[in-house]
Amino acid sequence: MPPKPTKYAHLSIDGEADAIDLPIYQGSEGTPVIDVAKLGANGYFTYDPGFVSTASCDSDITYIDGDQGILLHRGYPIEELAEGSNYLELCYLLLNGELPNQAQNDEFVRIIKKHTMVHEQLAFFFRGFRRDAHPMAIMCGVVGALSAFYHDSLDIENPEHRRITAHRLIAKIPTIAAMCYKYSQGQPFIYPRNDLDYAANFLHMMFATPCENYEVSPTLARAMDRIFLLHADHEQNASTSTVRLAGSTGANPFACIAAGIAALWGPAHGGANEAVLTMLRDIGDEKHIGEFVKKFKDKDSGVRLMGFGHRVYKNYDPRAKVMQQTCKEVLEELGVENDPLLRLAQKLEKIALEDDYFVQRKLYPNVDFYSGIILKAIGIPVEMFTVIFATGRTPGWISQWNEMISQSYKIGRPRQLYQGHSQRRYVPMDKR
Ligand code: CMC
Repeated sequence: MPPKPTKYAHLSIDGEADAIDLPIYQGSEGTPVIDVAKLGANGYFTYDPGFVSTASCDSDITYIDGDQGILLHRGYPIEELAEGSNYLELCYLLLNGELPNQAQNDEFVRIIKKHTMVHEQLAFFFRGFRRDAHPMAIMCGVVGALSAFYHDSLDIENPEHRRITAHRLIAKIPTIAAMCYKYSQGQPFIYPRNDLDYAANFLHMMFATPCENYEVSPTLARAMDRIFLLHADHEQNASTSTVRLAGSTGANPFACIAAGIAALWGPAHGGANEAVLTMLRDIGDEKHIGEFVKKFKDKDSGVRLMGFGHRVYKNYDPRAKVMQQTCKEVLEELGVENDPLLRLAQKLEKIALEDDYFVQRKLYPNVDFYSGIILKAIGIPVEMFTVIFATGRTPGWISQWNEMISQSYKIGRPRQLYQGHSQRRYVPMDKR
């Protein structure tokens, strides 16, 4: 429910005396919004391709101030969460609105661990995919298929069903993500180990084999946890809006999250972490940076500086700063502080931050600029990067979906500015 209007905007069409009064709401933070819902009844729609000025819902979960570079989850700054919290605690916060006390935290961790395995039958589903399928293609299909496995929790009107589904998704997504990887490698799936924490268990499922244990380094597990944490939610981005739009039809949550995964796949969104690494490899050497920067600035080249720019942040993405620090820690731990890709990334970042083109357009590094370098150092193949993003974003998608379903909501149904033919008569084939 929106708050009471603080003011009204008066929309007068062509100076007509009878203005249309539009309520203005002020949220607890951020830009005031003009409620245009009644405009349709007055014979007008609003027009905003790409939703650059449109708030699609009200939400209590995440707040971004793009000019200041601020990201808050339930009011807590991302830097403080990254420093003091961990991914599962953040999942609890996103889902429930408050940080857990010790007993709540222990119980939440216990429940998530209880759900880490997937239905044994799901393993057969993987076999329908080609071995060389992109892991995101597999993930979209398998997550959508979960609705065929968990019939006992599909009543979206039942809060208990929604709660179990949220727990199942958060618990099973890393298992599915690791299965996508194992399948592409032709290796057997590795069962979860519930004596490990969330991120360490994911690394175990990725890298252990039935013949060889994988010793999880605490620094790498911490880095993995941070990557999940930094991706956990980001208010009404393209994939989250997709989840909400799919959910507004009453579709089941597994189908909605599969839709979100599909939307995340694109290189302008979650696919950017993969694209950053490909770009750094294409540049190859510091001496080529100049010619690439020229291309990035030339619209006709169709090439963008991947990992730079954001629809909302017109300042440093606060997640990028934490990511940069984590990157240094990981490379130090692995003894590859002089990693050539990291050096190249740092050089490129410095040049771009001083270049007029990027400065004037307020293009700063985003979360994806450094995450790929960390993931590569951990040993995760590039095709898995967006799968990792999807794994981390799951609590955000499910919290936003749950928030919408718990409120009164309407099916999402945008209108359009039609520019096609007006009505005309059908022409039979022999008269064309
Ligand atoms: N490289 C070069 N020019 C850029 C870039 C870039 N990365 N990003 C934006 N611009 C230019 C763009 O050409 C335009 O210039 P002009 O004003 O002269 O026409 C201006 O900056 C504004 O760009 P826009 O495309 O209108 O901005 P947008 O808000 O629609 O796009 C974006 C945001 C993230 C899609 C875009 O910045 C981009 O494509 N970045 C690279 C991909 C990337 O890193 N994506 C990850 C985003 S963060 C993770 C996530 O949310 O999924």
